[in-house]
Amino acid sequence: MKTIEIEPTFESWQAAARALLRDETPPAQVRWREASNARQPSLPHEPTSSGAVKVPRQFLELARQAAAASDPARWQILYDVLWRLVHEHRDLLKDPHDPGIQRLHGLLTPKAAGPDGDGAARLVPAGAGLGELRAAAARCTGCDLYRQATQTVFGRGSADARIVFVGEQPGDQEDRQGAPFVGPAGEVFDRALAEAGLERENVYVTNAVKHFKFEQRGKRRIHQTPRATELQACRPWLEAELTLIKPDILVCLGATAARAIFGDTFRITKDRGRFAATRWAPKTIATYHPSAVLRGETETQQAELYAMLLEDLQKVAQA
Ligand code: URA
Ligand code: SF4
Repeated sequence: MKTIEIEPTFESWQAAARALLRDETPPAQVRWREASNARQPSLPHEPTSSGAVKVPRQFLELARQAAAASDPARWQILYDVLWRLVHEHRDLLKDPHDPGIQRLHGLLTPKAAGPDGDGAARLVPAGAGLGELRAAAARCTGCDLYRQATQTVFGRGSADARIVFVGEQPGDQEDRQGAPFVGPAGEVFDRALAEAGLERENVYVTNAVKHFKFEQRGKRRIHQTPRATELQACRPWLEAELTLIKPDILVCLGATAARAIFGDTFRITKDRGRFAATRWAPKTIATYHPSAVLRGETETQQAELYAMLLEDLQKVAQA
């Protein structure tokens, strides 16, 4: 196994990939690692001279775009495809059913969110405090959601908070008032917090997506679940909040937040109510979203959902 350190740029990956191809190193023997000032492999000055491989121009275009994605697996995915283009067949890119090609295209989908849709990453000021982050997020155009919403709803609470709650996205009231969990879901949340013995002033509350996504029906604005691309675009804000606060306990409210933190396979019904260590907090847990309680079809069902939410918050209060 070779560990190849590159700067997270297309050029750095390309230089390393060329050298690996020349040495006939198959993808399975390469582990890619990002470093901010990696040493470049030494290269002949004329990379297209005899012995160097020719790669379809279309691949280079795709690779350049994929290099700008944030998935750390992109270098490996790119080298896999490159290797197979050279060793299997040059028309690989034309096969939409090939799993490797699908993974390559998967890297590009977050970019499909529109002209401003390249995510919040480049807008997050490095080393900023919460106030600066909030101010920068207020101007975010990282995906299309800012166009329709009233304002960015950033997290609320102190950087010293030891417990962070993450919801899905602001709702109608939150969008108007500019603060998370201040509408009907916020009422349920506040009630459960108080009953569990937690105080809102001592915790930090935020959302996975910071703009309200809705569909206008007459006068009503109907909540719409954010797409994976929007979650991905907004994720740098959440990461910046969590990196700064470093909570002891991180609580995901509902499936969207839970998947953002634990990954796509997380299922609230099956996996809720258990602490696990994540890179964000030594104790990370997910529970029902307060809105789920409100959506319960009967009073009995609502009471049951509320009881489970409360039970999980009590675990948090005791941890
Ligand atoms: N639902 C959420 O997920 N977050 C809010 O801030 C309000 C409702
Ligand atoms: Fe930016 Fe997030 Fe709003 Fe999209 S939802 S514009 S990424 S703050």
